[in-house]
Amino acid sequence: MLASGLAPAQENPFKNDPQAAEAGRGIFRIYCSPCHGIKAEGGRGPDLTRGVYNAGDKDADLHRMIREGGAGTEMPSYSVSLGEENIWRVVAYIRSVARRDVEPVRGDRAAGEKLFWGKGACGQCHRVGTRGGRMGPDLSLAGRIRSLKYLREAVVDVNADITPGYPTISVVTRDGKKLTGVQRGFDNFSAQFMDVQESFYSFLKGDVATMTREFKSLMPDTYGKLFTPAELDDVVAYLHSLGRQGGGR
Ligand code: HEC
Ligand code: HEC
Repeated sequence: MLASGLAPAQENPFKNDPQAAEAGRGIFRIYCSPCHGIKAEGGRGPDLTRGVYNAGDKDADLHRMIREGGAGTEMPSYSVSLGEENIWRVVAYIRSVARRDVEPVRGDRAAGEKLFWGKGACGQCHRVGTRGGRMGPDLSLAGRIRSLKYLREAVVDVNADITPGYPTISVVTRDGKKLTGVQRGFDNFSAQFMDVQESFYSFLKGDVATMTREFKSLMPDTYGKLFTPAELDDVVAYLHSLGRQGGGR
């Protein structure tokens, strides 16, 4: 016979319990706010106040996501650090801040797709599915794993929050040549990086004049000017649709 408690409960034992939601808020601040924002409004991780979730809309779906984490994404698993009950408290908190009046995404996704591959030349550095370049992060899941706010900021304020794993490496060789690219490896002795042409470089520190790593972006910082505000909305609408079922909501 299965002992009850082996399988996680399907219903939140703290449903509509304001005290539990308040406790959940405290937990959320410590563990979750670095990615989901101090008020769950999203950041590098998705906005959790929209009231609609890619993971599913039942309490049990949210519990599962927090317990198991997002496979292949930055979303960690909290089964050990928080445990069943505290995860339910956090779910109660998330429910308490859901707005339910989901704002429609401004902008036109199809127009944004054209701008992405055309005027913006974003595909020079970014992949979506099997198309595009490799120097920048793959954006196939961008709409699922990032908030709208983060996506907009990533386009117009490129140095605000550098994608983890994508600092810039610059090397000056002994004969004075300067090479720059996105980090692919870095330690005390060597650096590997890829430039926009997707050439891969590997240098030992002892073999070059200087080797520096900077937490600044190699993405052009000109898109805020290149695009009109309406075009920017379109591009963000396109990014927001990536990786979402049905192209976003
Ligand atoms: C290091 C960044 C990071 C931290 C810390 C983090 N998350 Fe996430 N979270 C993500 C990312 C990225 C996703 C998208 C995962 C996916 O779609 O597979 C996500 C997805 C989710 C989802 C599903 C959203 C949806 O629309 O399906 C929930 C719910 C969630 N996180 C809750 C939490 C809670 C609660 C905590 C703290 C206990 C937390 N997260 C901590 C990055 C993070
Ligand atoms: C010359 C290469 C290059 C071009 C062109 C470029 N990007 Fe980037 N992009 C990068 C690099 C490198 C990063 C990672 C560093 C950072 O956070 O800015 C990045 C990061 C991003 C991110 C954040 C990804 C994440 O998951 O954290 C988004 C979104 C993005 N770019 C969208 C765009 C869009 C939209 C365009 C076109 C309007 C564009 N990029 C054009 C190189 C580029």
